[in-house]
Amino acid sequence: MIDSVSKAIFHSIAGSRRLKSLASRYGMRQPRSFARRFIAGETVEDAIAAAREVEALGMTQTLDYLGESVASMAEADRATRACLGIIESIAAAGIGRNLSLKLTQLGLTVDRATSVDNLRRVLDAATKHDFFVRVDMEHSGLTAVTLDIIETMWQQGYRNAGVVLQSYLKRSPADAQRMNQLGVRVRLCKGAYKEPRSVAYQARADIDAAFVALMKILLTDGGYPAIATHDPAMIKATLAFAESSGVPADRWEFQMLYGIRRDLQSALVGAGYRVRIYIPFGREWFPYFMRRLGERPANVGFVLRSLVRER
Ligand code: FDA
Repeated sequence: MIDSVSKAIFHSIAGSRRLKSLASRYGMRQPRSFARRFIAGETVEDAIAAAREVEALGMTQTLDYLGESVASMAEADRATRACLGIIESIAAAGIGRNLSLKLTQLGLTVDRATSVDNLRRVLDAATKHDFFVRVDMEHSGLTAVTLDIIETMWQQGYRNAGVVLQSYLKRSPADAQRMNQLGVRVRLCKGAYKEPRSVAYQARADIDAAFVALMKILLTDGGYPAIATHDPAMIKATLAFAESSGVPADRWEFQMLYGIRRDLQSALVGAGYRVRIYIPFGREWFPYFMRRLGERPANVGFVLRSLVRER
């Protein structure tokens, strides 16, 4: 209950332009500013530096150029060209080649056909440089269209694109079966948006039970699934299932967010498991940051303490 109320509050704040501009002024100002706990910085150089640190610790990474829900095709084109530039920069830097993005960043909610063209531009550049591109999953109004676009890309021969499924959505088991059938790589997470009960489980126990069931479907039949969670119970269930069903540790990976549960990240690496860190960067960090606060309201105390320290 508290989970869903705090999610709702932070989601409405995420849409506030005034708070966004206020936060943008303070959040990244100094290396210890509050947003830097979850976001590598505003530039691709900041992200590459963070990626190097992550790789030095024995983990892999995916860079996420922040941005979503653009309001015009001009903005979508700018975001697409930025992704193309980022692919070049990552390739030149010699770090792992893996990018995460959102379809609304490429214009999905403005003009679907052009956003698909934009995705194709990114995937072509990704193919040329041997990248993997993960299309993040947004709110439930976009689930069907996102999966549709990924399936179209797959049918057109793009094998370097993967998708995300959220365990809170009641439809996800069927989607997992479909993605497994095609061979599309899936990242499994619990889901970060405020969703209605008609489509999504609300109780933590139901979301967790669905997560475990989906993890089993993906580990059994999926093509290199990613189990994205910081929840020790989900991690324990995954390790137990992988071991009992003989799924080798190089056939799947854990994924975690930059700045969250670093202790757990290194413990898993130390135990010989693959861990990929999702590293967000860019100027459009406010909605991402608000989702992280909504997941754990205790983070608000951390933000307030940082602000007081800065003043
Ligand atoms: P849970 O929320 O139960 O948290 C377990 C523990 O993790 C907490 O007790 C706490 O210790 C720690 N923790 C979790 N969130 C924290 C936070 N914000 N701050 C501090 N500590 C925190 N969602 C989505 O809808 N679409 C997507 O495409 C993605 N992509 C994605 C990629 C990756 C790599 C990850 C790890 C997650 C996502 N998510 C996502 C987010 C996901 O849906 C979910 O909201 C968060 O991962 C939190 O859920 P957990 O599974 O960590 O469990």
